[in-house]
Amino acid sequence: MQRLSKALRTPVCDLLGIELPILQAGMGWVAYGRLAAAVSSAGGLGVIGAGTNMPADELRREIRLVRSLTDKPFGVDILFAAIKTADGAAAVYTAGVAQMIEVVLEERVPVLVSGLGSPKDVIPQARARGMKVLSVVGAVRHARKAVADGVDAVIATGCDGGGHVGKIGTAVLIPAVVDAVDVPVVAGGGLADGRGLAAALALGAQGVWLGTRFIATREANGHLNYKNTIVAASEAQTVVTRAHSGKPCRLIRNKFTDEWQAREADIRPYPLQLEVGHRASDLGRRQGDVENGVLPAGQSCGLIRDAPAASDVVRRIAREASAALDRLVG
Ligand SMILES: Cc1cc2nc3c(=O)[nH]c(=O)nc-3n(C[C@H](O)[C@H](O)[C@H](O)COP(=O)(O)O)c2cc1C
Repeated sequence: MQRLSKALRTPVCDLLGIELPILQAGMGWVAYGRLAAAVSSAGGLGVIGAGTNMPADELRREIRLVRSLTDKPFGVDILFAAIKTADGAAAVYTAGVAQMIEVVLEERVPVLVSGLGSPKDVIPQARARGMKVLSVVGAVRHARKAVADGVDAVIATGCDGGGHVGKIGTAVLIPAVVDAVDVPVVAGGGLADGRGLAAALALGAQGVWLGTRFIATREANGHLNYKNTIVAASEAQTVVTRAHSGKPCRLIRNKFTDEWQAREADIRPYPLQLEVGHRASDLGRRQGDVENGVLPAGQSCGLIRDAPAASDVVRRIAREASAALDRLVG
């Protein structure tokens, strides 16, 4: 392997115990133990996407699967969905989320990522077990809040990315968050190759969080039609819609998104619309109906032209980033 630029060895690598600053994003329905283990084995950080409702025994199985395949650090991403108590006085985690948190703590997963909502109440227990806690944020004020809550690092994802998105583009969000907080920042949203990693480092981030790029890999869970759609799609073929969950979410544009665009008033608020979204996700991501199903993807799909092994993606991005950095310093 060619010599890699020293600039790729950022403090976040030491924080997480990884060799390369490449984090595979937690993705519900897509990122299971097999993908996470492949990315971690290759020197990045693989992350199981548990979403809001992966059954506790399934999550434990996936965690143990990673451990059977690699001894490298890995993570679990949970959407910390909270609901108000009956009297409206406090917010508590839903039962599914509470059970997943218990499993992650019991299993002492090296890295816990909160994809939505605050992991504040869990941080002391995670710390006591030697775990690191990261939060995904889409706005500067969310980053400040996460740091005040005590996270070890923030993952700032711009609205170019796949899945749920905020309003700010990656190129502005990253330096704005870097300026606002005093913990390491990882950049995500629309990044898919080594040039993206080099650019993220130039913007002040210490690594990248890549979702769509890792959907198009052999180890990702998901129907081949979904992977092929991403490989074939241009950067202009995604759309942000609330049709999946009630919250803005970037999906591949298809019959599903067009039909809901025509009846936007019928979209129910989060989480009620997820009843539609879960059914359509199963149709698209598991059964391969790419017209009528939900297919989350970032604008990054315009940069993805193959679906190799995840380890090849990790190594290629490291090589490309290194070459880009060398080029810049002449
Ligand atoms: C299929 C899919 C599922 C996702 N599910 C989750 C999730 O469960 N939790 C989460 O924090 N983010 C989720 N995301 C967002 C990703 O973690 C990440 O922020 C995003 O993919 C980055 O943009 P990119 O796709 O352009 O790389 C999902 C994204 C995709 C594409």
